[in-house]
Amino acid sequence: MAVLPKPRGPLSEELVGRLVAGGKVAPLAVEPGSPEDAALSLWILYELSYRGYAEVDDRLEHDPELVRVRRRLEDDLEQRLRARWPGRPDVAADADFAEAFFAMIEADDGPSLARFVQREATADQAIELLQHRSLYHLKESDPVAFALPRMPVAARAALAELQYDEYGGGRPERLHAHLFAEGMAALGLESTEGTYVDQAPLEVLEQNNAMSLFGLNRRLRGAAVGHLAAFEATSSLPCRRMAQGLARLGLPEEVRAYYEEHVEADAVHEQLATRLICLPLIEAEPDTEDDVWFGAWTCLETESRVAQHLLERWGVA
Ligand SMILES: [Fe+2]
Ligand SMILES: [Fe+2]
Repeated sequence: MAVLPKPRGPLSEELVGRLVAGGKVAPLAVEPGSPEDAALSLWILYELSYRGYAEVDDRLEHDPELVRVRRRLEDDLEQRLRARWPGRPDVAADADFAEAFFAMIEADDGPSLARFVQREATADQAIELLQHRSLYHLKESDPVAFALPRMPVAARAALAELQYDEYGGGRPERLHAHLFAEGMAALGLESTEGTYVDQAPLEVLEQNNAMSLFGLNRRLRGAAVGHLAAFEATSSLPCRRMAQGLARLGLPEEVRAYYEEHVEADAVHEQLATRLICLPLIEAEPDTEDDVWFGAWTCLETESRVAQHLLERWGVA
């Protein structure tokens, strides 16, 4: 279970109060005080659909007023993400989908945090990055798990295969989120979900909210698996760089092990996600194609914003 983050404005303050108070939630008339307040509020509400909070009644996940607030916040987020999207790339009708997909990934020239960690980050910077990454890695693969029953047959079988791997292939100690938690513990960091949400900048909150938005809305299933494919396709080499950087800094083996696990795993996952999940989904349900590209682009774009923010804060961009 997660710990409730500290409010960052009037809406998150009101929400935390109502969640802890329990009972049916009365109409909430509070507006978000800032983009961070809105993003944190949405993160807090989404958590009710994952493992929840010890001090919050599980029934509030579907409280009508909280669902209304969540819908409003996620509509705003979706609109913002769609407004940034330049639209799907110009791909010839007879082009191979996977090749066009990898070409888009290749063309992405966003800044790389992994390269920075590999070559020059200090231990403090690397640890700060791990804290921000913990928002996702502690629920690794959970957002897209919601898309599983929403896939047509072929894509569902392949997504289950990929998820089986992410969830440890039947071995709890190999579950990727657990590997990351072990790494955090070895560093003396908290591995309870929500702990480092308090430090997360807007860009990190938005990156995580986008994944929940795609996973938790069936109509966005194309975006959920497009995001997954882009994530896997930008993971293998960066994970090698991260592992090298963490070794250079002399950080514990457990934290490197998480990244080493992903060097080979994600080289396989990127093929699986692109050719055996996204493509069969598009073939069976052609209306989802735009969103596959939208989800993939959002993955690259939200990561690039996170990287830009951190590198600027560290004075290296
Ligand atoms: Fe993983
Ligand atoms: Fe993976």
